[in-house]
Amino acid sequence: MNTLGKSSGAYTAQKNSGILIKSPREIKIMRSAGQVVALAIEALKEAVRPGVRTIELDAVAFEVITKNGAIPSFKGYRGYPASICASINEEIVHGIPGERRLKEGDIVSLDVGAIVDGFHGDAAATLGVGEISPEAQRLIDTTRDALWAGIKAAKKGGRLGDISATIQKYVEERSFSVVREYVGHGIGRNLHEDPSVPNYGEAGQGPLLRTGMTLALEPMVNAGGWQTKLLSDNWTVVTADGSLSAHFEHTIVIGDGGAEILTLP
Ligand code: MF3
Ligand code: CO
Repeated sequence: MNTLGKSSGAYTAQKNSGILIKSPREIKIMRSAGQVVALAIEALKEAVRPGVRTIELDAVAFEVITKNGAIPSFKGYRGYPASICASINEEIVHGIPGERRLKEGDIVSLDVGAIVDGFHGDAAATLGVGEISPEAQRLIDTTRDALWAGIKAAKKGGRLGDISATIQKYVEERSFSVVREYVGHGIGRNLHEDPSVPNYGEAGQGPLLRTGMTLALEPMVNAGGWQTKLLSDNWTVVTADGSLSAHFEHTIVIGDGGAEILTLP
């Protein structure tokens, strides 16, 4: 739900009952949607290089999604015009693909969603373009590993706040900041369902994690402060201080023996 804007951490008030538990049959479909998203991200990793235009990356993802019989989740969502989001450097999320060419040293966050049989998968990764600075690499590594730490904390019988607090701690211990105004989300027949999944919070707080809950965890991590700005295109979210930002996302399902990642290839 990183599109829904200001969320100000009201999730603790959310009732467990708003969260839809998926049946094994529905989870199987979400696994298929997740696989399409994973394939698209793999194709994007191959396609990212200095000189490529982000609109070309959008075409690569669209091709993979549709060839696999799926529908892009984002196209037309609240009027969003493309199949992926491509957010460069200080852009955090929701960058609209266009004529801009990636250049050596840039980092680019690519976010992909796909629908199979009515269910969504959603994932994102930040990639370096050619050689990048050590600090940019450290930001990328920290964001990816914060997501993994959050996934490990997503356990049946735990609380949603366990995930949030784990991600926040992992990031802040490395002197980066987590974005507050955009958050992860439940996912299923809708791209964004209850609950909100903030990347900050208190362990032991929030809804109980139950088998069959499907969540999109998506830490957005800034090298500088956590504050954001919205560009005049009304989509692109950037860091208020112009610092670099990275974003990793996976769709997961809470299982009996820990979380299963649905968007791994
Ligand atoms: N992963 C993002 C999210 O959950 C992507 C949404 S892009 C949009 O909000 F175009 F669909 F808004
Ligand atoms: Co998402």
